Amino acid sequence: MPYKRELHCHLIPGVDDGSSSLDDSLSMLRSMQTFGVEKVVFTPHHTSPRFMNTPEIIQPLFDELKKNASEQGIAVECEDFSFEYRVDDSFLEMMQTGKFGDPSCVIRPLHGKYLLIENAFSHPIPIFDKVVERLLSDGYYLILAHPERYMYYAGHHGRFYHHLQEHQVEFQVNILSFAGMYGDVAKKMAYWMLDQGYVNFLGSDMHNPRHAELLDKFLRSKNYAAIYDQLCECVGNDQF
Ligand SMILES: [Fe+2]
Repeated sequence: MPYKRELHCHLIPGVDDGSSSLDDSLSMLRSMQTFGVEKVVFTPHHTSPRFMNTPEIIQPLFDELKKNASEQGIAVECEDFSFEYRVDDSFLEMMQTGKFGDPSCVIRPLHGKYLLIENAFSHPIPIFDKVVERLLSDGYYLILAHPERYMYYAGHHGRFYHHLQEHQVEFQVNILSFAGMYGDVAKKMAYWMLDQGYVNFLGSDMHNPRHAELLDKFLRSKNYAAIYDQLCECVGNDQF
C-alpha cells in the first residue's frame, strides 16, 4: 500500500453495510497487515436514517475488535474510530439543535479535527455546500470521501473539485477506483484527479473480504505498479 495508516474502512462488525461478523473483521485486518498497513482508523457510516451510529454504540465494538486482534497476534494497530458522515439535512439539523457536546454527540473527529464526509451518490445533497461551510467555520478540517464516485462531479472541467479545494476541502480517493471497481467513469475520474494533483488521501473503503481479495489482486497488477510512485508522492495518510 502507498500508506501505513488506513483512514476509511467499514470493519466494525454489524453496524452498517460493512463487516457482518467479528471473524470477517479479523480476516480483513489480517489482509491489511499483508498489504503493509500498520494502523487503522475505522469509519462506519453515519447516514440518517439508515445508519444512526454514535460513538456510544461503536466504542464497545471497537474495544472488542481491538482486543481480539491483539489476542490473535494481528500486528495492525486498531488506532481509533471516527465516522463517514453523510452531510445532509438531518446532519445539519443535529448541528443546529445543539446536540454537539452532549455525551451522545455523534461528531467524533479523526485525530481531533478531521471529519470524513460524503455526498449522496444519486444526486448532490442540496445543502452540501451550506453544511461544509458551517463545519469549516466551526474549525473542522474536511476530507471528502471518494469524490471520484460522484458521477455528477464528472465532466464540468473539474469545476466542483476546484470549488471544494478552494474552500479547503481535501479529497480521499478509493484505491479500488483505479482498479475499476466502481465503473469506468469513477476509474477515469480517479486517474484524472491523480494527474491534476487532487488526491490528498487514499483509502481502501473496505467493506467485506471480497474487497480485500480485489485489493490484493490490484496491488499485484502492472496498472498499480505504474501509478505507485505517483500515489506515494501525494498521499497524506501518514502525516497526522
Ligand atoms: Fe465508506
